[in-house]
Amino acid sequence: MSLRALLLVLVLVPLSGAEEDPADPRAGEAGAFKGKTLTEAVALLGDRAGNAGFGKLVFAQRCQRCHAPEAGITAIGPFLGLVADQQDRTALLKSIIMPGADLAFGYEMRRFIMTDGKTFEGSQVEDTADAIKIATVKGEMRTLVKDNIKEEERLGTSLMPVDACRAITVDQMAHLLAFIETLKSKAP
Ligand code: HEC
Repeated sequence: MSLRALLLVLVLVPLSGAEEDPADPRAGEAGAFKGKTLTEAVALLGDRAGNAGFGKLVFAQRCQRCHAPEAGITAIGPFLGLVADQQDRTALLKSIIMPGADLAFGYEMRRFIMTDGKTFEGSQVEDTADAIKIATVKGEMRTLVKDNIKEEERLGTSLMPVDACRAITVDQMAHLLAFIETLKSKAP
């Protein structure tokens, strides 16, 4: 969306009066999906149809620092167009509320213990002859010189925070899913 279109949405939405700010976590019960099983989450969502435009706003606020909205942009997490193309709504929902349940290939967390005793955790982004580049949970990139790595451990967990959608309402989740489904067309 162009900046102009975004501004238009931001202006028109409050004017229409009928819709609350879709990105406002206070609209509806925040954290509706916290601690829910997949079955409970599916029931909660029902057949609610989301609005992809609103979903884009929620995505920009909560997901975009790790997931690029276009294929081919280097990011901490995978581009979601592929997963939207391959998974149905239930499977997508599962990936969102239970990160790590089906870890996307190559995004497993690892712990590196350095010769000076420091430890770093992150998922490997690059592996060159003498260094490993990792993305940390904070979204930082770090380059670890191989000669300084004493030990490496696979943690089997995801870098994606379990609470990534903690403040999301049921409506926002429907919007988010509708937006992610539009990314299919951008899958390479
Ligand atoms: C701190 C970074 C981070 C944030 C914030 C984040 N994610 Fe993720 N996400 C990841 C990483 C890393 C993976 C790959 C590991 C995995 O599959 O759990 C991932 C995986 C996924 C997958 C599965 C992808 C696949 O190919 O299997 C989906 C779907 C997803 N995220 C959706 C979201 C949504 C929606 C949000 C916002 C509510 C979000 N993520 C926020 C880092 C993040």
